[in-house]
Amino acid sequence: MSLPGRGEALGILRDAGCSRGVVRHCVNVAGLAARIGGELVDAGFDVDLALVEAGALLHDLGRSVTHGIGHGAVGGELARGLGLPLAVVRIIERHVGAGIPADEALELGLPVGVYVPDSLEEKLVCYADKLAEGAGEVEFGVTVGRMAEELGEDHPAVARMWALHGEIVGMLGSR
Ligand SMILES: [Fe+2]
Repeated sequence: MSLPGRGEALGILRDAGCSRGVVRHCVNVAGLAARIGGELVDAGFDVDLALVEAGALLHDLGRSVTHGIGHGAVGGELARGLGLPLAVVRIIERHVGAGIPADEALELGLPVGVYVPDSLEEKLVCYADKLAEGAGEVEFGVTVGRMAEELGEDHPAVARMWALHGEIVGMLGSR
């Protein structure tokens, strides 16, 4: 399958059985990712905005099955089954938290795979997801604060969140 456009991506979410709330969240993330992606392009970075839109719209495809930490892996599997481009599959698989390194993925019982965002498009969708709240936006620190409350301040996932934030903000500031 070639890169799905907006209508096609939304159809995939609905056909998979994603709730209206999940679809709304995905649309919000796509809007935030498009805005930041545009800023990155303005800052001179090469961003595939069509891929970002498709990936952002589909990033929570796995929530049609589970809202657990495995929803990225499940979504990736669904996306592979639908024949979606690998670049989209990777965005889906790598968007949870600020990425899940191999040792933690193993501990969590996730299928063997790579769950750390690598490409700029993967990082961008992962980041925009952390800014989305309902139909609106929150400060990145609010999301990190919630994560710290849930996992503990010292959990490495918290430091990874700030590292991702620093990377994106650093790129935006390099204009
Ligand atoms: Fe998600």
